[in-house]
Formats: sequence, C-alpha cells, structure tokens
Amino acid sequence: MSGIRPTGFLHLGNYFGALRNYVKMQESYTCFFMVADLHSLTTHPDTKELKAHVHRVLAENIASGLDPDKAALYCQSHVPETTELYLYLNMLAYKGELEKTTTFKEKARLQPDNMNAGLLTYPVLQTADIIIHRASLVPVGKDQEQHLEMARNFVNRFNHRYGEVFPEPMAFNFGEELVKVPSLDGTGKMSKSENQHATLYLADSDEMIRKKIMKAQTDSGPTEPGTPKPAYIENLFLLMKLVSGADVLESFEQAYQECRIRYGDMKKQLAEDMIAFIGPIREKAEAIRNDHSYLRQVMEKGAEKARASSGATMKLVREHMGLNYY
Ligand code: TRP
Repeated sequence: MSGIRPTGFLHLGNYFGALRNYVKMQESYTCFFMVADLHSLTTHPDTKELKAHVHRVLAENIASGLDPDKAALYCQSHVPETTELYLYLNMLAYKGELEKTTTFKEKARLQPDNMNAGLLTYPVLQTADIIIHRASLVPVGKDQEQHLEMARNFVNRFNHRYGEVFPEPMAFNFGEELVKVPSLDGTGKMSKSENQHATLYLADSDEMIRKKIMKAQTDSGPTEPGTPKPAYIENLFLLMKLVSGADVLESFEQAYQECRIRYGDMKKQLAEDMIAFIGPIREKAEAIRNDHSYLRQVMEKGAEKARASSGATMKLVREHMGLNYY
C-alpha cells in the first residue's frame, strides 16, 4: 500500500524513485495505490485545482505503468472507512509524539498561519490509509520512515488494547538501493519544490527537455587521465545511465577517460534519449487526462476494490473495540 499526494507534477525522480517500484510490486502482490486527496487539504485548503491535480496524478501514474486492473488505484476520499479508522486511531495518538514529528515541525515553520489539527494528525491518517487494508509492505522513500515508525507504534497500541488486528507496516523497496535521480544543476536530487529548471517533469515538452538539459552546467573537460568527475558532470552520466543505451554511455565514459569528451555532444545525446523516454509517457498521460469517462471508471473500480478490503477490516475493528451493541 502506498499513497501519492496530488499536489503537483510527477518528475523523473518520482518515476525512478517510487513509481517503478510500484509497477514491479503490482506483478507479485495485492496492491493498493491511493491518491491522498485528504492529506493535501492539510497544506492546500483551496480546492480549486484539486480535481485537475487528482486527474493528473492518476493519468501520469497509469501512463508510467500502473495498471488499474492489477492494483487497486483509488482516491482516499472515496473510502470513508479510512476516516472512521482515523478517528479511532486519534484516541491512541498522543499530542506530544505528534508535535515531535519532523514533518509537522517543518510544516509549522512553512505555514505558521495554518497549523491545523489535520497537520498535527497527518501521520495518524497515513496510518489509517495503510492498515485499513491490513497492509504490511509500504513502498516509500526515506522521508517517510518516521511516519512508518509512528504507524507501528499506533498499531502496537491498538493490538495491545483491543487484540491483534493489524500487522506492523514496514517500508519496502525491491531489494535494490532506491535510485536517486540527480538534479540538472549538480546540487541534490530532482524535487518538486526546489529548482524547477533542474527537474525534468513527465509533462515537459520535447523542447523544454532539450532546453533544460542543454543548460546544465559543464566545463571544458578533463585534461589529465584519471581526473575525478565533478558532481555536475557525474550527474549527467547518472542521468544517461537511466535513459540511454549501455553502448552510448560507454562511449562517453571512454571519451571522458581519454580527455576528448565534448559535453555539448553528450548533452545533445542525453536530450534526445530523454525525449524518447519521456515523450511517450507524456503523450499517454495527456490522452488519459482528457478521457474523463475512463478516469471515472478507474476511480470507481479502484474504490470498489478498496472498499471491499476496508469494509472487512472495519468490521473486525468494531468487533474488537466493542462497538457492536446488538
Ligand atoms: N505522506 C506521504 C507523502 O508525503 C503520502 C501518503 C499518504 C502515504 N498516505 C500514505 C504514503 C500511506 C504511504 C502510505 O508522500
């Protein structure tokens, strides 16, 4: 089970860091992938753009390989059982631990005028998302580790008080290191919030991709064999490794080692390979985004699967909690 916040455009980092993991998981596990529209209300109370964002995130995920026939792909608000469980879990979550959460402290700093209770209990809702399916594997990045640790605490408190209902959820990736996709400016990784010109989005036009890559920093190249690559050059090689053929990568590697590399040529090649990679995803996503009846079908089918699983869990929860009076 995992959740995706509908607050923007998916980029290459999301694709290689998260999505590709989901696509692999859907082949061998029962999967629930959810658009976290309720979570987005904690930071984005203005809902004018919400529908468009939900449609975009669904379309981009499907275009990248998520299959609504294999996994349950649904919207959080379509599964009201989640909010019921969230309420019960709130009675097992303490103010002190919630206030200590890193993401809460960060958001309190970013939006001091809107430190709402939803923000404080964000990890409780996230726990409800996961355990409503009694899920144990949660493909997420490092930034979500603390939320998962809190989820395990809430689960253990529930099980201890009311009886064993939930397994402990664990962060999951496919055995390999999560791929970090470097940004084009040589600092850090691609990110929604930081330097947008150094991030490649799945919705970028061919021209935009070319422009961003051609603007990436380079220098006049090494003059002595064995010179280590500066970070901004290493990043170009890393990106090339993700989207170019092994032979192409090898030929530029060799050119670098032999001090005859021309970064202009390398960036041109990288741009064309990137376009060949992103272009088809972008076009597929756009077609899906414009097909409202298909999107509706996807959401309905996803909600149906998610509600079947959630309904069964809530029955168990109410019984264990003693909320059955007949
Ligand atoms: N908090 C996650 C994020 O910021 C999104 C999320 C919501 C989530 N519910 C979840 C992730 C359940 C995993 C499981 O990206």
